[in-house]
Amino acid sequence: MKRKPEQKKPWAGRFRQNTDPKVEAFTSSLAVDCRLYRQDIAGSIAHCRTLQQAGVLTRREAEKLIAGLHRVEREISEGRLRFTPAHEDIHMAIEARLTELVGAVGGKLHTGRSRNDQVALDLRLYLREEVTSLLAGLRRFQESLVELARRESSVVMPGYTHLQRAQPVLLAHHLLAYVEMAERDRGRLRDALRRINVMPLGSGALAGTNYPLDREFTARLLGFPAVSQNSLDAVSDRDFVVETLAALALVMTHASRFAEELVLWSSQEFGFVELSDAFCTGSSMMPQKKNPDVPELIRAKTGRVYGHLVALLTVLKGLPLSYNRDLQEDKSPIFDAVDTVRDVLGMLASLVPGLSVRRATMARAATEGFLLATELADYLALKGVPFRQAHAVVGRIVRDRLDRGKDLTGLTLDDLRKFSPAFEKDALDVLSVEGALERKAQIGGTARKRVEARLKVLQKALRAEK
Ligand code: ARG
Repeated sequence: MKRKPEQKKPWAGRFRQNTDPKVEAFTSSLAVDCRLYRQDIAGSIAHCRTLQQAGVLTRREAEKLIAGLHRVEREISEGRLRFTPAHEDIHMAIEARLTELVGAVGGKLHTGRSRNDQVALDLRLYLREEVTSLLAGLRRFQESLVELARRESSVVMPGYTHLQRAQPVLLAHHLLAYVEMAERDRGRLRDALRRINVMPLGSGALAGTNYPLDREFTARLLGFPAVSQNSLDAVSDRDFVVETLAALALVMTHASRFAEELVLWSSQEFGFVELSDAFCTGSSMMPQKKNPDVPELIRAKTGRVYGHLVALLTVLKGLPLSYNRDLQEDKSPIFDAVDTVRDVLGMLASLVPGLSVRRATMARAATEGFLLATELADYLALKGVPFRQAHAVVGRIVRDRLDRGKDLTGLTLDDLRKFSPAFEKDALDVLSVEGALERKAQIGGTARKRVEARLKVLQKALRAEK
């Protein structure tokens, strides 16, 4: 059996052997959690003040520790602190460096605290900041869509179901659909924020703490509106991470739907929009190519965020109370999801203003074909023909026109009356795109006035939040 030389590990007293370096490498989370150093130090400073307030640390001790923690923070932010693999995680790396700087008093920092409540705190501090900045990112994406909708407010396009041309809609209506989705995304993130914003420190390793720590004081120092109410839960709860991941998965669902439309719309088959050159790449072989790589990658990156959600749910399922080392695997999924969504929202907000809309192509696509067939059926229904029958009549008209290689343009009243005597001389009046739009005048419809009113409401709400 290997004899152990002098050890630096906090648990060295209990152990006869040093940790195998392979195990150190396998269990270390430092490479991932080093990005929590600011949160970790902020939490430690609040802990020092709480220990002082409880009379566990003298004022001098607390001040020495806090000054040292500020120094460690500066060393890390300036890239002057080299982490070694022997430090399992950011918490131990910071404490070790602090003790080097301030001497034995460094050993008092961890009084009444465990890394279990410490890491829960760090992650909550981190997510609180990131979710707030993602909310702003979503808002900027929404603003870019609202602005495009305003700029192109006159443009008509075919609305689709099953990716088949269905009925004419305003491009603005189509764009504002994504603003509504993002609005719900923001609601979900704000809701998650309420449960992120709970202060776990003082839960100790699992059972609470022996020291008279005023947890509400700690919460006030760190700006938390609430403290956790069960220590076992507080050290092992990662619901707030799952909720955030789930909300981010839906953000990506929406981003990927929009991205897919950009890919389709910028194809020659559609020709509805052109992306700015700055957001496309060419082909190394085919000189004519201009590829929509950015939307394609947004579409693809959705997969990793879904993956992170499933990964964390799977880590958590079946874990007995309370803290288990499994929980260390929560960080890389949430970090990568946050980074991905931040980048995607940034890309979208800068790509949208540079879209050129091929207005005439969109308008033509909305006029040709049979997008007004429903208007004819509704005309008959308003004349008293049961809708199902009206639908069948117009269906026969469509088939007849298709057989003749024509669409609805050029239809005469005589043509119509061959199919139903209920067509009167005002029948052809319903066959206009503008009329079709204007009739969709109920709340949520694509009538110009409705869309304009909704656009104004959204624009005002977004402005008010800045
Ligand atoms: N690196 C750990 C994590 O991220 C910190 C808590 C470790 N606690 C422990 N008892 N080993 O979860």
